[in-house]
Amino acid sequence: MFPTNPSLCFLNFKPLLLELLVQPLYLFFPGSDCPPPEPLANGRVLGNVFKLDHQVHFLCSPGFQLMGPETRVCLDSQNWSGAQPSCKSSSSSSSHCPTSISTHVRASRCIEFLDSTHCTCEQGYSISSHNSTLCTDIDECELFRRTRPGRLCLHTCVNTAGSFHCECPAGYSLGRDSRSCHDIDECARATHNCSSEQVCVNTYGGHRCVEVDCPRIRNATYIKTSPLRCDRNPCIQGDNACFQAPVSINFHFMSVVSNMSTPTVLFRLSAARILGDTLRFGLLGNRGVQHFSVQRSGRLTGQLVLVNAVQGPATLELDIEMSEMERRVLLGRYVTKVTLFVSPYNF
Ligand SMILES: *[C@@H]1O[C@H](CO)[C@@H](O)[C@H](O)[C@H]1NC(C)=O
Ligand SMILES: *[C@@H]1O[C@H](CO)[C@@H](O)[C@H](O)[C@H]1NC(C)=O
Ligand SMILES: *[C@@H]1O[C@H](CO)[C@@H](O)[C@H](O)[C@H]1NC(C)=O
Ligand SMILES: *[C@@H]1O[C@H](CO)[C@@H](O)[C@H](O)[C@H]1NC(C)=O
Ligand SMILES: *[C@@H]1O[C@H](CO)[C@@H](O)[C@H](O)[C@H]1NC(C)=O
Repeated sequence: MFPTNPSLCFLNFKPLLLELLVQPLYLFFPGSDCPPPEPLANGRVLGNVFKLDHQVHFLCSPGFQLMGPETRVCLDSQNWSGAQPSCKSSSSSSSHCPTSISTHVRASRCIEFLDSTHCTCEQGYSISSHNSTLCTDIDECELFRRTRPGRLCLHTCVNTAGSFHCECPAGYSLGRDSRSCHDIDECARATHNCSSEQVCVNTYGGHRCVEVDCPRIRNATYIKTSPLRCDRNPCIQGDNACFQAPVSINFHFMSVVSNMSTPTVLFRLSAARILGDTLRFGLLGNRGVQHFSVQRSGRLTGQLVLVNAVQGPATLELDIEMSEMERRVLLGRYVTKVTLFVSPYNF
């Protein structure tokens, strides 16, 4: 049996977000078009961008088995890769309107045509393998986990009745594309609780309140001249030990994502003014030697390069020294103390 009015079985469906979500990913990749893929009988074709290198996915209704490729790619030749798959029936079915309905199960819409009955489901649902009058929710999260991990949601995919949504870790907000996660800048939004003596450092997924103390270095004394800088107090004439101590100590805090590609220049430093004829740059001590290298990038500039990927979450500290020389005689040393906050995620 089937309803005289097919809309009796037509319930309120949430629109499937899939097309909306996936589409923005493709905006930057123009190319030659493939023809629209042939429709899949007893199944669905997912994907609505038919440009070079884009994919369409095939999904059979429950009760049907996919024969052929799950995915086809739009090739240079403006043809889809592989052969068109088909859905092979693995059960026979009858049709009538169901009455009891849960959120992940809906009634199918059945249409009578030339002595046969054809039941279809709204987007986000497919014909139940147990009962063809019912539509069951398609788990888009699971579907994409198998075919293209990470493409549906950057972080967590939550399947819902007829649809799905993406979620981000604490400290991130969901992007306008509804799939990506953007760090919330607590420092800029002033939602941090750093005191006035502290400096707020935004990190991926959070923030830190940092407060620097001038280091105690023998033979010289330091005074804090800005929240992130200490300068050496003047040395007594002839106190060579004092003149050998760093002229200034700068503090630099940075936030990076986990597993950054290498090599990556993290920042450059240069002298504000130069008295001598030569500048030398290097790592001070052996903190950070496994991950970083300090290289010259110009006559007056050096750069900190990440040479080996760092897996977060982690906090790394290292000291960079810049020495100013005049005819091989040291004029002054400048130390930059770097702290790197590495995100637990690669975003
Ligand atoms: C596309 O594929 C068909 C058969 O697979 C072939 O006959 C046709 O020449 C192809 N078109 C192009 C533009 O390569
Ligand atoms: C299909 O589901 C409907 C509604 O839940 C039920 O009335 C019917 O008996 C079921 N048919 C079969 C073959 O299980
Ligand atoms: C500041 O906020 C963080 C996280 O919101 C919390 O863990 C910390 O205890 C707070 N510190 C103070 C001093 O309130
Ligand atoms: C401090 O000065 C003394 C005497 O000049 C010297 O022996 C010592 O190495 C210096 N210490 C540092 C940390 O530079
Ligand atoms: C780090 O990135 C590389 C590619 O840049 C990738 O192959 C590797 O799986 C990533 N490692 C982790 C732990 O995510």
